[in-house]
Amino acid sequence: MSLDKSAGTVQTMFGDIAGTYDLLNHLLSFNQDRLWRRRAVARLRPRRGELILDLCCGTGDSTREISQKQPQCRVVGADFAVPMLQIAQTKNLPQLVAADALRLPFSDHSFDAVFVAFGARNFEDTRSGIAEIRRVLKPEGRLLVLEFMRPTSLWLQKAFGAFNWVQAPLGRALSGHASAYNYLPQSIGGFYTRAEFENLLRESGFCGVRSFNHSGGIATSFLGCKTAGDFGDT
Ligand SMILES: C[S@@+](CC[C@H](N)C(=O)[O-])C[C@H]1O[C@@H](n2cnc3c(N)ncnc32)[C@H](O)[C@@H]1O
Repeated sequence: MSLDKSAGTVQTMFGDIAGTYDLLNHLLSFNQDRLWRRRAVARLRPRRGELILDLCCGTGDSTREISQKQPQCRVVGADFAVPMLQIAQTKNLPQLVAADALRLPFSDHSFDAVFVAFGARNFEDTRSGIAEIRRVLKPEGRLLVLEFMRPTSLWLQKAFGAFNWVQAPLGRALSGHASAYNYLPQSIGGFYTRAEFENLLRESGFCGVRSFNHSGGIATSFLGCKTAGDFGDT
């Protein structure tokens, strides 16, 4: 059975788990989520004076990470789950916008960079989401997508299976939301592989596409530029 990723379902699901999202994120990942975001933001290399979109910002941990890494840039956090944004608001973030990633309320060529942490896997149509991101990037703009991947090594696959066996019931019990913590491993299992996602970025017109594994490939950072350009020495 295919996973229901319709906008309404995903939006409601994240809205329902907003209150326990941060706690469960840190708990279930043994705080690795913080490290992954920090490393991904370091790869993006936010620069002084830039306007950066943190798409699918959720409760704003990624937005805050970018602002802390480069206090001289302007970060806009966007997400379509308002309860997630309400939590983000308590973190003193300057600009938060309720928006659907597939229909962004921004003009063409608006942002120097777009950062998406653990959001792209949830798009109803990944290809359209990537095209929409590309539309709002400036010609020299860059994209960083941080996403969970199916581990490729055998021992990590086994560890991942055991982890899912523990995290799903724990997530269900603590969040009180059964389907959200079934959705997580299913959505990772049904998502692109690292090579497939790199290809999707290339096919969508991104240049200089490359990727970096975190924690042996449980999470991966993908980078690309809207037009030929580079990320410096990252
Ligand atoms: C797993 S959370 C990640 C939140 C945050 N970036 C982080 O690092 O913790 C995924 C977020 O993506 C948002 N999302 C999923 N699909 C979206 C879409 N089409 N438009 C806007 N937000 C979306 C959800 O509402 C949710 O807040």
